Amino acid sequence: MDPVTDDPKVRADELRRLIHHHNHRYYVLDSPEITDHEYDRLMRELMELEERNPEIRTIDSPTRRVGGEPLKEFRPFLHRTPLLSMDNAMDRGEVDAFHERVCRWLQKDGITYCCEPKFDGLAVELVYEGGRFVRGGTRGDGSTGEDVTLNLGTVGSIPLALRGESVPDFLEVRGEVVMFRKEFHRLNKERLELGEQLFANPRNAAAGSLRQLDPKVTASRALVFFAYGVSDAAQLGMYSQYDTLSLLGELGFRVNPDRRRCRSVEEIWAFSRELQERRDALPYEIDGVVIKVDSIVDQETLGVKSRSPRWAVALKFPPVQATTVLRGIGLQVGRTGVVTPVALLEPVKVGGVTVSRATLHNVDEVLRKDLREGDTVIVQRAGDVIPEVVGPVRAARPEGALPFAMPDNCPVCGSTLSRESAQHRCVNISCPAVVRARIFHFASKEALDIEGLGRKIIHQLVERGLVRDVSDLYRLTRDDLMSLEGFAEISSSNLHAAIQASRTTTLERFIHALGIPQVGIVAARDLARRFRGLDALMHAGEDELTAIPRIGPEMARSIRTFFEAPENCQVIQRLKEHGLTLQGPSDQPIRQTALTGLSICFTGTLTSMARNDAKARAQAAGARVVDSVGRKLDILVAGADPGSKLDKARSLGVRILTEEEFLMLLKEA
Ligand code: IVH
Repeated sequence: MDPVTDDPKVRADELRRLIHHHNHRYYVLDSPEITDHEYDRLMRELMELEERNPEIRTIDSPTRRVGGEPLKEFRPFLHRTPLLSMDNAMDRGEVDAFHERVCRWLQKDGITYCCEPKFDGLAVELVYEGGRFVRGGTRGDGSTGEDVTLNLGTVGSIPLALRGESVPDFLEVRGEVVMFRKEFHRLNKERLELGEQLFANPRNAAAGSLRQLDPKVTASRALVFFAYGVSDAAQLGMYSQYDTLSLLGELGFRVNPDRRRCRSVEEIWAFSRELQERRDALPYEIDGVVIKVDSIVDQETLGVKSRSPRWAVALKFPPVQATTVLRGIGLQVGRTGVVTPVALLEPVKVGGVTVSRATLHNVDEVLRKDLREGDTVIVQRAGDVIPEVVGPVRAARPEGALPFAMPDNCPVCGSTLSRESAQHRCVNISCPAVVRARIFHFASKEALDIEGLGRKIIHQLVERGLVRDVSDLYRLTRDDLMSLEGFAEISSSNLHAAIQASRTTTLERFIHALGIPQVGIVAARDLARRFRGLDALMHAGEDELTAIPRIGPEMARSIRTFFEAPENCQVIQRLKEHGLTLQGPSDQPIRQTALTGLSICFTGTLTSMARNDAKARAQAAGARVVDSVGRKLDILVAGADPGSKLDKARSLGVRILTEEEFLMLLKEA
C-alpha cells in the first residue's frame, strides 16, 4: 500500500489514480490485479474522503461510477459531426459491388479494408476535454441524441480519464454499448420473477438500461462499451482505421480484438465466415461485419452520401432459422412459483443445434405471437444459444387449432394460480414443483454446488417426502439415498459426503442459495461484503440495504419480505442446527501460485478432505475447477476408486496427480 498522507486532496488523487488503474485492469483488460474486496476498500476510502471534503471532488472521480441523483428528463445531446448510418450488404455480390465502387471512386485497386464485428448494441458518443470524460450521448437521429452522461459514467469500461503519455486535448469517441448475453439472461430472469416486461434481446436491454433517468439503475446493470472510431481521425494524426483502434486501446478504451486488415473481397469473406462460426461463442451479440476502407485519406476522398459514408458497408449475417411443428405448450413451475409456458417442439436443427424446447416467457407472449398447438412455427437462434419461437406460419395452421389459454390451476399441485400482470404464480409454498426448483437452485453450481444432486434425484426425494425444504437435505442418511432408484453404495456415499461438505460455504454463496427473488450472485456478493454475517443481513432495514450501490428499493423490499417470512427464518434456523458454517470473503490478494491459471478436475474419493474443500482450496490458489476431462484440462487429481475420467485423462496425456501430490502443490502454493 502506498504511504498514506494527511492531505485529503493528495490522498484522493492517489486513490483515484489507483482506482482508475484497477478499473482498467478489470473492465478493459479482463485481468484484475487485486481482489474485489481490496478494490471496494479503495473505493470506500475515496467516497468517505469526498463526502467529508466535497471541494476535492473531481469530474473524473471513480465515485461517479455508482450513479448520482435521478434526472427529471434527458437534455438533448448535439453531435458536432453527425453520427452516420451505414449501407447494408446482404451477400457476396453486394460486397463485390461495394469494392468496385470504392475502386472506381479512388481510381485504384489494392484497397486495404479494416474489418470489424458489427456489434448489436446501441451507438453512443463520448466527449473528452483535457483527457477527462465530460459528456456523452446516444445517437438519436444522428445529429441530436439524448444526454446520458451520468449513466455512461457508471459503465466500467468507459475511462473517466484517458491514459497514456500523449492525451489529446479534445476527443470525440464513438462506439457501442452492449450487454453481454450472460447479464441479459440474468436480468430477464430477475424481471420474470418480478413480473416485469422482459427485454426482447440484449440490444433492447442495453438501450433500456442506458436510457434510465436514475443512473443507479444503469449502474446495477453490467453494460460494456466498445470503442470503434473517433469523429476526426486525421486530427489525431492517424493514417488508418486499424491504427485508430489501437490508439483507442492505448488511451484506455476497450476495442474489439477481432479486427482484421483485409486486402481483397476473398479475405473479407474468409473473415466473415470465421466470425459466423465463432458467433455463438462470443459473449456478446454481433449481427454482421463492418467493412471500412482502412486509409483515412481514402476515407476523406470517398466522403459521405446523405446519411452514410461511401467508405463503409455493413455485411449482415443471415439469421439462423428453421421451421418445425409445435407439438404442444407445456407449463413449467419455477422456484418462486412463476408458471412459464414452454414450447414443446418436434426436434429440429437450427444452426447446428437440435432444439426441442423453447421458453415462451408468459401468457401475453403466447397470445401476442398467437401460437397454437399443431402450428408450424419458425424457430430462430438470433446468434444466441437460447432458441426463440418467432411465430407461426399462418398458412399451415391445422383446422380447428384453438388459441392458448392459461389454466386456472397449478399443473403440479392444483392450487389456484394468482395473476400479477403478465405472470401467473403458484402461491402454494409446498407445491412440489416449487420445492424441487428451490432445492435445485440451492444445490446449483453458483450456490452450494452439491455435486451429484440433480433434478432426477431431487424429484424422488421430494416425491417420497424425504425432503420438504433445503434443511431436510442434511438429515438424509446414506441409507435414505441408497433407497433411491439407480443408487449404488458408492454413489450414495459420494452424494452424502457432498451434501455434508456443503455445510461449510461462503456467505455469498449461501445468500445466493437462499433464492431470494431478485438476488442473484452479484447482489449476493455485494450483500456478503457489506454485512459480513448472516444475522446482520437478516436484520438490515431497507435504508441500510439501498445504501449499497447496486441495490435498489425493489430488491431491498424483496430481501426484507424474504426475511420477514417466518417459514424462511425457520429453514435458516434448522440449517444452522445442522452445522451450517459461513466463511467471510477472503482478504487475500490474488497471488501467483503453482496452480494459478490452471484448470483442474477431481475424480474418485479423497481421504484427507471433502471434495468441496479440495475444490475451494484449488480455487483459492488460483486454479479453475472444472467437471469434465478434455484436451484443455491441465491437471486431474485422482482419489480412491477413480472412474472413467482417469482413463480419459491418461489417453489425452493430461497431467495426473495423487491426492498427496495435490496437497504438496497446495503447500508450495
Ligand atoms: S462504424 C459510418 N463500427 O452500426 C460508420 N459501427 O449503421 C460509423 N455498429 O448504429 C459506424 N458495430 O453503432 C461502426 N464496429 C462498428 C460497429 C458499428 C456496430 C453500428 C453503429 C450504428 C450502425 C451503423
